[in-house]
Amino acid sequence: MGASPAKLNLYLDVLGRRDDGFHELETLFAALSFGDEVEVALGTPDAAITLELAGSVEVPTDGRNLAVRAAQAWAEAAGHASGVALRLTKQVPVGAGLGGGSSNAATVLRLANTAAGSPLDEAQLHGLAADLGSDVPFFLHGGAAVGRGRGEQLAPVEAASGVVAILILPPIACETAVVFRNMSARVRAAPAEGLAPAQAALRRGDPLALREAHYNALAVPALGAYPALIRFTSQVEQRLGRPPCLSGSGAALFDLPAPDEIESVLSALEGLPGRRVVATLCP
Ligand code: C5P
Repeated sequence: MGASPAKLNLYLDVLGRRDDGFHELETLFAALSFGDEVEVALGTPDAAITLELAGSVEVPTDGRNLAVRAAQAWAEAAGHASGVALRLTKQVPVGAGLGGGSSNAATVLRLANTAAGSPLDEAQLHGLAADLGSDVPFFLHGGAAVGRGRGEQLAPVEAASGVVAILILPPIACETAVVFRNMSARVRAAPAEGLAPAQAALRRGDPLALREAHYNALAVPALGAYPALIRFTSQVEQRLGRPPCLSGSGAALFDLPAPDEIESVLSALEGLPGRRVVATLCP
């Protein structure tokens, strides 16, 4: 059984659109203590790949699920002819920008490969992960990392442990491709200092400085594409007295409270639709 953590983008700049239709990114990923659980059993009698679902979030159990596609890709690359049985205990919402599906896929690759005695090396796993999705490679290692390219070119970074994030999960799902398609020149410019202050704040474990340094170039296109997210975000801002951060292409918002603010932030958000989760960064 393996933990399949969610992530936050503490900083995310979109540098431009590429010829292959993807966007060139510069992002700071941090894994969370909040996530799903994945179990992988190899060698089931028939060659099928099966997915059994538990937990509170509904997802498809066929080839539309990235975890199933990860098992297929791994079995093919590793020459594994018998089946793979997956069990997924799902807590991370879909369309949240928390990387739930990407993390499930990376955890399947890692667990299946370890269970089979590591037939694929790290470079091969990374290649499979990048083919499955831009965020999948990050989850092979977790922790904290700067992502460039599509997000798959990773450099691990130092992170203090114990910084608390309050995830504010609206009953709204954002589709990543829709948000990227809604990118326009109107996007708020990234801070001149770029990524460096966010990285320094994460190294020090300073939630206020992390909040200051947060930037997400996908926030404007996400809000533009999902009017319900504008209403939800402004409700959150009114209650918090400060703008919340957005993770990835949304719809998950988050706040980074100082340790003595956690209770007051949670009570200010009481009664909002959706749910709140208290998690730590880079556990
Ligand atoms: O890589 P992934 O499958 O997660 O991407 C989903 C969609 O998000 C892509 O089809 C693309 O439209 C968009 N995307 C992008 N640039 C990235 C990552 C994703 O345009 N760096």
